Amino acid sequence: MLRRGRFEGEMEPLAARYTSSLDEDMRIFSAVVQINLAHVIMLADQGIISKSDASKLLGALLKLHEIDPTKLETRPEQEDIHVVVEDFVVKEVGEVGGKLHTAKSRNDQVVTAIKIVLRKELLRVEEALLTLVNTLLERAEENKETVMPGYTHLQVAEPTTFAHYLAAYCSAFLRDVRRLEEAFELLNSCPMGACALAGTSFQIDRGRMANLLGFKRIDENTMDAVGSRDFVLQSMSALAITTVNLSRLAEEIILWSSWEFDMLEVPDEFSSTSSIMPQKKNPVVAEVMRAKSGKVFGNLTGALTLLKALCQSYALDLQELTPLLWSSVDETGNAVEVMTRMMKGVKPKVEVMREKSKSGFSTATELADCLVRSGLSFRDAHAVVGRMVSNAIEAGKTMEQLGFEDFQRASEQVLGKRLDLPLRDFSEALDLVKVVEARSIPGGPSPKAVSIQLKELRRKVKQCSKLSRARWRAIRKAEEKLLKKAKEFSE
Ligand code: ARG
Repeated sequence: MLRRGRFEGEMEPLAARYTSSLDEDMRIFSAVVQINLAHVIMLADQGIISKSDASKLLGALLKLHEIDPTKLETRPEQEDIHVVVEDFVVKEVGEVGGKLHTAKSRNDQVVTAIKIVLRKELLRVEEALLTLVNTLLERAEENKETVMPGYTHLQVAEPTTFAHYLAAYCSAFLRDVRRLEEAFELLNSCPMGACALAGTSFQIDRGRMANLLGFKRIDENTMDAVGSRDFVLQSMSALAITTVNLSRLAEEIILWSSWEFDMLEVPDEFSSTSSIMPQKKNPVVAEVMRAKSGKVFGNLTGALTLLKALCQSYALDLQELTPLLWSSVDETGNAVEVMTRMMKGVKPKVEVMREKSKSGFSTATELADCLVRSGLSFRDAHAVVGRMVSNAIEAGKTMEQLGFEDFQRASEQVLGKRLDLPLRDFSEALDLVKVVEARSIPGGPSPKAVSIQLKELRRKVKQCSKLSRARWRAIRKAEEKLLKKAKEFSE
């Protein structure tokens, strides 16, 4: 129908299929119907079309609203869902259907539809992340006293607790939520009225369109409205960062459940075995998650590349961006949900964690700090303890097997003298539990400090949930209002 003026016939069939977005458009179908409903109401209120025409158009659109998009009749020559909707309305109401596209374009319509769908998708990923954080918080609560080695350079560094470790991820995932919230806020502006790129001379009401579609404001520049997709990039970046965090956690699950580390037990339901090696328990879920994060980064790289040389304003290149966005949304949302389930069942091996902390000389820093408190400079203390550790490694001893004499010997070797340190201080500095308890500064691993962190994290989760609930409410309210208005009109 679109082609009947400018062209004689249809597109070459392969070329038509090659450029069509119809399959992908199913995801925006109901948003496109909503936009059309709002548009007709607005046109009628502005006196651009008559109330009786509006009533017919709305009747057809409401009928479409009830249709399951998978059951929608489409033809190969229809370029996209926007054409399908218009064709459906024309078929339903005849010539009046031709008025539907007054003062709008597929360009403003498609970007508006993407925003409408993306708003909900972002809220869904946020909520999934908040559930993940809640799960991690529960696991942390159970493990405030579970001492484990903290690593730097993947070498045992200092003792911490499993709760402290889990809380670290809670902080990261909550920042992911904040980034998604921010993306939502920036994209919550309505492009409708931008039409092709330069707006229209019809006296449309853009504010009303924004209101009917639950947007906070209108896009201030019509060219920017149809030609910019940085909101897509921002969302995809936030999603990519989320998968970085997920992938890091997945990597540690893989590593720590290995025979070599042996610090975590992955639930059987999240593992597979080998077809040949009967002993194998493979952390395949975490592996797939680690791999799929690459897909989300790839989508982002693809999106950046696609956009970087596009002139203002609309070009059909933009159509190829949308599937990348949905792929990132789906991959990230799925990964968050799977991670939540897996983390519910992951078991820390408390004894092994403690042993690893001991054998890795993790209390060395605390001993050096202890020497500083007895008057030594930190550099001298560092050298004495360093020597003590290297002597121990040579003698095949662990930190806990070291005695006061070993320490004094190291001091004589490095500083040429014995040190005046009470034996009790020396012993306490080597005691894993005491060392962790002493790290009680805000953000630290002591059970008390972690309790405070968990409380604060819970408060943040509540705050974020509140915002997402309010945003859902606003969206639903606008949707209900729109349908009600459309029904009133069409009667
Ligand atoms: N299918 C297009 C997309 O997804 C809709 C806009 C098409 N605009 C156009 N002028 N051909 O971006």
